[in-house]
Amino acid sequence: MSKQASDFMPQGDYRKALDTSFVHRYSHGEDEWSWDVGMIQAAQAFLERLDPQGDQHVLDIGVGRGRDASTFILAGHRVTGLDIVENSSWPLLRKRWGDRLDLVNKAMQDWQPAPGTVFDAALDNGCFHHQHPDEWGPYLAHVRRLLRPGALVGLNVFGVDDAHPEAGWREMDNQRQGYFFTDAGIRQTLEAHGFTWQGLEVIERQHGEARYLLALVRT
Ligand SMILES: C[S@@+](CC[C@H](N)C(=O)[O-])C[C@H]1O[C@@H](n2cnc3c(N)ncnc32)[C@H](O)[C@@H]1O
Repeated sequence: MSKQASDFMPQGDYRKALDTSFVHRYSHGEDEWSWDVGMIQAAQAFLERLDPQGDQHVLDIGVGRGRDASTFILAGHRVTGLDIVENSSWPLLRKRWGDRLDLVNKAMQDWQPAPGTVFDAALDNGCFHHQHPDEWGPYLAHVRRLLRPGALVGLNVFGVDDAHPEAGWREMDNQRQGYFFTDAGIRQTLEAHGFTWQGLEVIERQHGEARYLLALVRT
């Protein structure tokens, strides 16, 4: 039976576990998601829906090695990327992109941008589904607050498949958890937090079982 939200360790302990898990993966070169074709496809599908005029200010939540941020900058946009782990790619990214990219070592839920900062769009490519269940509400409310009305948001999350059709938490490394959604479940979650549904892209996952579900919504 899959883990229930009530079985979770306390929020503060889980934050530490998440940090330990991601620090370990990046520092040992085990961040296989950084090269995952499915995640590249998710970013591409999100980019295709961005305003083609360019110069949109995009929030990249859980920016990782900046693969998607670099794609958006090449398409003419500016990016602010948040991550709880500052990995070894960041110095080069800063040098390469200068003021087109702002990298911030902060958790999404905690970050307060400079007053007056408003984003045109946000992509969360593989970050939200690892958050403690008690943080889903504050996390999504904070995303909404930072965006202009009508802004595009893409959330790429783990999706169940025919082999393992049950939604729920699955244990990963170092006590990190991942929540696997049904197609209806991710829609309900986002609509319950005030987002307007735009559609779902189902993407094959290169590493590991299951699928990715790219949920597209607007504020
Ligand atoms: C699976 S990785 C995906 C990274 C990147 N989006 C990509 O596609 O390669 C998830 C990322 O989210 C970061 N992360 C986890 N929780 C976070 C939070 N609350 N706020 C910001 N970043 C977070 C992790 O450190 C990690 O870099």
